[in-house]
Amino acid sequence: MYLFTLPNTKELSQHICSKTKLKLGKAEFKQLSDGEQYIQVKNKIKGQNVYAIGSTNQPDANIIQFLILINALKENGAEKITAIIPYFGYARQDKLDKPGAPITAKLLAKLFKQAGINQFITVDIHSQKDQKYLQPNLINISTIPLFAKYINNNFDLANTIVVAPDNGAAPRAKYLAKLLNNLPVLVMEKYRPQQNIAKIKDFQKNIKGKNAIITDDMIDTGGTIMAACQELKKHKVRNIYLFITHGVLSEPAIKRLKCAPIKQLVITDTHPISKKKQIKKIKILPIAPEIIKVIK
Ligand code: R5P
Repeated sequence: MYLFTLPNTKELSQHICSKTKLKLGKAEFKQLSDGEQYIQVKNKIKGQNVYAIGSTNQPDANIIQFLILINALKENGAEKITAIIPYFGYARQDKLDKPGAPITAKLLAKLFKQAGINQFITVDIHSQKDQKYLQPNLINISTIPLFAKYINNNFDLANTIVVAPDNGAAPRAKYLAKLLNNLPVLVMEKYRPQQNIAKIKDFQKNIKGKNAIITDDMIDTGGTIMAACQELKKHKVRNIYLFITHGVLSEPAIKRLKCAPIKQLVITDTHPISKKKQIKKIKILPIAPEIIKVIK
């Protein structure tokens, strides 16, 4: 069985192929003179089950490349196509939250299915709604067991709470707390006065002197995390650690992280993270072993 990859998941695909029976498929990626993408699959795949991997992070060219790759596989006779999408871009626009808004998560799910994907494997997709759009054949890998293992191996958990910076993160915070011997959970209430601006409402809970483990599905501009840290520090917590699946880290996340009152940010490599962004406070856990478990 072949695994075909977008350029942005090349390393991940090599890792997966080295630990499974999948063979790395050959495909030629070209940009034509007018800027259009061209992909030619070089292996015979007629009647076969194939895998295609790619993260649909920015730039948008990744999405069209993925669609074209799937189309090439389908048009050349692949019997079943399983897509591995470690980071599913556009998943946050998942509902009609204001008049005239789009639902990009639903749009992408429809496009991918229409192109020929039969099954999806993804990692901590943003919401339950997104999961619904990708059904019936979705495997949504949770990073919480991976984080719990890392925390158990590296932390003393006395006097520690798990924090969800908003309601969306509450299920993962509760799951993490459960795996850490039922630590107490604090769910914060976030609101956005405008896009990309995060504020957190004050709360009544005595957390003075405690250590806090914040967990969320993604860190983008770092606004959510900064607001959560400020609130926690106002309530006099001791040390703050972040366990977040997708390191989107768009501007000004790194600047914010450098001055944030955090000990460590632990993320995975579902989203490409340039060397420049890999500052000392960031620890990256590889996602490949989790994907390999599912493939096996
Ligand atoms: C939102 O619901 C997500 O779970 C994250 O909290 C959010 O997208 C993070 O974005 P930022 O880092 O820009 O606040």
